[in-house]
Amino acid sequence: MLSFPHHEAVMQYALDLACQGVGTVEPNPPVGAVIVDDELNEIASGFHSRFGGPHAEVVALANAGDRARGGTMFVTLEPCCHHGKTGPCTDAILAARIKKVVVARIDPATHAAGQGMARLREAGVEVETGLLERAARKLTAPFAKGVMLGQPYVHAKWAMSLDGKIATSTGHSQWISNETSRAKVHELRGRMDAIMVGIGTVLADDPLLTARPPGPRTAVRIVVDSHARLPLTSQLVQSAATVPVIVACTPAAPAEQVELLRSAGIEVISDSTRGETDHSRVSLKWLIDELGRRQTTNLLIEGGGELLGAAFDAQLIDECHVFIAPKIIGGADAKTPIGGAGMLSVPDASFEPLAVEHLADDIYIHTQSIAAVLR
Ligand SMILES: NC(=O)c1ccc[n+]([C@@H]2O[C@H](COP(=O)([O-])OP(=O)(O)OC[C@H]3O[C@@H](n4cnc5c(N)ncnc54)[C@H](OP(=O)(O)O)[C@@H]3O)[C@@H](O)[C@H]2O)c1
Repeated sequence: MLSFPHHEAVMQYALDLACQGVGTVEPNPPVGAVIVDDELNEIASGFHSRFGGPHAEVVALANAGDRARGGTMFVTLEPCCHHGKTGPCTDAILAARIKKVVVARIDPATHAAGQGMARLREAGVEVETGLLERAARKLTAPFAKGVMLGQPYVHAKWAMSLDGKIATSTGHSQWISNETSRAKVHELRGRMDAIMVGIGTVLADDPLLTARPPGPRTAVRIVVDSHARLPLTSQLVQSAATVPVIVACTPAAPAEQVELLRSAGIEVISDSTRGETDHSRVSLKWLIDELGRRQTTNLLIEGGGELLGAAFDAQLIDECHVFIAPKIIGGADAKTPIGGAGMLSVPDASFEPLAVEHLADDIYIHTQSIAAVLR
């Protein structure tokens, strides 16, 4: 059993445990819980490991048994006090006679916020909040966006050269990053609910967009394609029977092409905010809301520059996964990762680093938007 030097160390351990549920608990949040005695010796711990499974608090209490009595529980998210797929955690905490609960983050769902803590306090349990709250917010940001905005949490990924190009001026881009970087992208894909690209990328690269090897989740693949130009011969269409593909188009897309795609097993959804004679592009706001209605927690946009630019302009990007390779591509017309209108002045840093890693000779920079942390 572990012994902790201070309260932050206990909560950090609970956060580390919570991370182990990422990829398997969604649309629930990852949560960790640690029960300690008055000298901060671990009595037991647990984490929420899969959607529909027991919550972290219940796992920790079950592991502690009678030893939980009089202990202090450190938990990364406010315990629930409602009946969901499992019983209320507050009841389990009270039944186990825990004397104090330390919470990192209050539940961001308005119907639940503060209620678990109020229930515990009413029953005489001492409750503290806010310990390592920012770290807990970072971890639960996808869950928070879902319950607060009804939208998926958007990850943007790109590989670029030292001079910030994602392809040559002819559109050639395979491969800019090295094998280690690409393996990391496959890991990322394996915990997504959806992976999206623009039709420009499909026409240039004919990507498969699956996780290889597979991860804990299988993402639906989405092509943003106003006029339903996705070729029937593309790898996406050819593999649609195994892994689903959605084409998001507008009512202006030719009906016969839409029918051909549907016959090939593609789900075609049409932007209801556009009319039949409206040749503007698919509204990303409409598409993101539609994915939210479909319970999409994590969405990965893999480019290209036009689609990512539109997503950035619409302030949809929550996290970036950037792979920088020691290559120089050059060319004024070569694509950069984020097109669109862009910012008019250099903004205050609106993304903060989560990780910077060397992946052989590439560098991986992982950032999260401040808005996502503060939400
Ligand atoms: N290095 C990397 O990480 C990486 C990743 C991906 C791609 N790439 C490279 O990037 C290039 C393709 O990028 P790209 O910028 O030309 O194309 P893209 O972003 O993949 O696709 C853009 C197309 O998507 C469609 N679209 C529909 N609605 C849209 C909306 N609301 N906003 C933006 N686009 C919308 C538009 O075509 P319609 O109007 O016909 O619908 C638009 O032309 C290729 O050379 C590829 O190799 C590199």
